[in-house]
Amino acid sequence: MSQLSREELKNLVLTIPDKFHWRQTTSHQFKNFLIDNFYDSKCDVLEVGCHKGHTSLILSHLFKNVFAINKNPPSSEFPQRDNITYEHMNSYEDPWKISKWKRCDVVLIDCVHEFTEVKKDTKNALKLSPKFLIYDDYGDKRFPGVKRFVDEFVKEEKPKKVTKFGLPRNTKWIEYMDTEGVLIEL
Ligand SMILES: C[S@@+](CC[C@H](N)C(=O)[O-])C[C@H]1O[C@@H](n2cnc3c(N)ncnc32)[C@H](O)[C@@H]1O
Repeated sequence: MSQLSREELKNLVLTIPDKFHWRQTTSHQFKNFLIDNFYDSKCDVLEVGCHKGHTSLILSHLFKNVFAINKNPPSSEFPQRDNITYEHMNSYEDPWKISKWKRCDVVLIDCVHEFTEVKKDTKNALKLSPKFLIYDDYGDKRFPGVKRFVDEFVKEEKPKKVTKFGLPRNTKWIEYMDTEGVLIEL
């Protein structure tokens, strides 16, 4: 749980590269939305695809435990915090640790941005009975499969609430057909 106030956490965000400098991570706006919506959460979070841990670091100040999946071994920059577990595994080939991650009420899906893989991550995530699913790069024109899957999922599953957030459609330097992120309340 965070010892930092919301404001201090937002200052911590400023020390992390923004999406304009590091395309693989989420934007500052995305991270600040997570702070506003999940500050002091009592549950765990699963991050599917964590790369250098830029978002994992912020998640570790919001949630009890962070389980961060990645197929590559952790980079030397990956944040070392007691409540972050680096899950070195292939999300699509290795079994998901359902009982270990059962307190993850929130799953952030940010791994392979293709329709089939996003669908697989979602299907596995649902085995944890999460309350929220979050997708990064939802509206990025380079990854149409993410939006296609999420929009189909929303149409079919009719979740309680869908909130689009993060960088908007008219962002300079990155071509978006919709917002950067989407939060789905199940
Ligand atoms: C977009 S990056 C994640 C960025 C991170 N969530 C952040 O906000 O900083 C996607 C990550 O997924 C990882 N990845 C790709 N294929 C994977 C797989 N099959 N299983 C697990 N991780 C994978 C990549 O190595 C990469 O680090």
